[in-house]
Amino acid sequence: MERLQKVIAQAGICSRRKAEELILDGKVKVNGKVCDVLGTKVSNQDSIEINGNVISKEEKVYYIMNKPKGCLCTSSDDKGRKTVLDYMPQNQRIFSVGRLDYDTSGVLLLTNDGQFCNHMIHPRYHLEKTYVVNLQGILSDDDIKQLRRGLKTKTEKYQPAKVFVLQKDLTRNRTQFELTISEGKNHQVKNMMLALGHEVRRLHRVKFAFLDVKDLRAGEYRRLKPYEIKQLNRLSMEGEQK
Ligand code: URA
Repeated sequence: MERLQKVIAQAGICSRRKAEELILDGKVKVNGKVCDVLGTKVSNQDSIEINGNVISKEEKVYYIMNKPKGCLCTSSDDKGRKTVLDYMPQNQRIFSVGRLDYDTSGVLLLTNDGQFCNHMIHPRYHLEKTYVVNLQGILSDDDIKQLRRGLKTKTEKYQPAKVFVLQKDLTRNRTQFELTISEGKNHQVKNMMLALGHEVRRLHRVKFAFLDVKDLRAGEYRRLKPYEIKQLNRLSMEGEQK
């Protein structure tokens, strides 16, 4: 038996807090009867309806993909562009765990488990993501200091990042480096670099926590192994206590 709000969040409908609001607003029915009491326990046998729609209790699935450049992390696109779901099995209602930009490649997790997704992307859980950044320009010692200290702009404050310079090409005025962050703000890496006056030429996510895609070609995916899912959940729980 699980709490009603948890089951709703796990079905990927909304966050647990939003589920609590829906319950208190009388929008949720269990076995056909309105249930507006928080903490009600439900089992797999119970039918749960939100605003008249029955939520499905499908098997939870977890994938890792090597996202190619040139596709979106949305479920569809008005302009007919490719999405990551075009690469995935078509019989499941899955979504990406956070987003990578159209022109960003690398590690992307996909699932139908809303709560897992939330734990993986919320900065509170401190899960690290590492990018190889190809930059137009030379990353200066002062840039690195700012990134390590926690970059501040007029509108944003970023948590301290880890920086490891791989290559500086003074002739072509380019830098390649690894950047590790535990937040996932919109276009975060590109915006951090813009704030330092640099343009990102290429962005590839090499790691999501301990997971990489060295065994997958661009566009390929595999199911996460049970121990990998367990380890991700464990890391997010430890991260919450930091
Ligand atoms: N930061 C970005 O700017 N873009 C991405 O796709 C991921 C992180």
